[in-house]
Amino acid sequence: TRPLKVGIAGLGTVGASVIRILERRNETVTQRGGRSVEVMAVSARDKAKDRGIDLSPFTWFDDPVDLARSADVDCVVELVGGADGAAFEVVQTALSHGRHVVTANKALLAKHGLALAKLAESKGVSISFEASVAGGIPIIKTLREALPGNEVSRLYGILNGTCNYILSRMELEGLTFQECLKDAQRLGYAEADPTFDVEGFDTAHKLAILTSLAFGTEIDAEAIYVEGISSITPLDLAMAKELGFRIKLLGVAERTDTGIEQRVHPTMVPRTSSIAQVMGVTNAVTIDADAVRELTLIGPGAGGDATASAVVADIADLAAGVAQPLFGKPVDQLEKAPRAPMQRH
Ligand code: NAP
Ligand code: HSE
Repeated sequence: TRPLKVGIAGLGTVGASVIRILERRNETVTQRGGRSVEVMAVSARDKAKDRGIDLSPFTWFDDPVDLARSADVDCVVELVGGADGAAFEVVQTALSHGRHVVTANKALLAKHGLALAKLAESKGVSISFEASVAGGIPIIKTLREALPGNEVSRLYGILNGTCNYILSRMELEGLTFQECLKDAQRLGYAEADPTFDVEGFDTAHKLAILTSLAFGTEIDAEAIYVEGISSITPLDLAMAKELGFRIKLLGVAERTDTGIEQRVHPTMVPRTSSIAQVMGVTNAVTIDADAVRELTLIGPGAGGDATASAVVADIADLAAGVAQPLFGKPVDQLEKAPRAPMQRH
């Protein structure tokens, strides 16, 4: 069978890890679908940068949009980042040219997901995005494929590894906010602009995607109340501890009598609760649903290899021919859910 030919746009923390994982796991990926995966082309800004990988087997593109329209690829993996600019152009061009897309870009999906899903549908191709939410946790697959027997009433969780890492180390090691953020950046957890992490926008982007999948509604990122962790002080953490709580940045989506409520804010959780035990870069997502009752997934929320694990899962699905529609059903079947006013919690 003809291999699935892949082009990778963006060779940073995640892109470089994807190449390394595909190199060592290609046999397993192939066995799963009976079709091998071949990286044909790559693109990034700086061709001369040492990425610790041999790029000589691949065709290099200075412009990732040229890679996206290359006839040599069946699937474009977008790992550039950002809601607009190069990332948007890459995805739009790839879909317009009938190429499948795999992306880890939650900012892009939160803003343009619906339009891109329509474009993909019209071209008969797919957009896969397991890596866009909660790093290595297979939360997209779980919501889209594992719970058809359920009506979800609420989902909530720790969706940003950088913030949880910062809050954990501030509390446990007494480090400053800035010291922790610097380490999160060094370890490849933070966004290119870390404001997205610490001000809660990254959590909001991820929550918007999960809400759409959980409730079968159109993505509505603008409905989300957003508050980040940049004003949390060591004194806040100490006071919370004194009272028997821990502070976590949570994303919460809930079906109420008036519609869907979505919110992101620092939350005091009892120290004895299971979510309070989730520390460091780890993420956790809990789904409340009628049949399964309560389901929690916990795992690494950021970092090159953990995120690349999810990207490779999407590529393997494509090779196996089992890619799913972006939001689990055709775009015109998504509900436009009313926005519920935020309750006091
Ligand atoms: P990154 O390390 O900053 O890598 C970005 C890559 O894109 C770099 O290789 C960069 O080239 C390239 N690039 C940027 N602008 C470009 C342009 N205009 N034209 C061509 N190439 C360009 O980012 P990352 O951490 O890998 O994240 C990639 C995506 O994954 C983002 O959407 C991010 O939100 C998402 N994500 C990241 C993580 C994580 O833990 N890091 C987890 C989940 C999802 P140079 O290398 O030459 O500068
Ligand atoms: N910056 C993000 C985080 C990367 O820290 O969670 C994973 O999406």
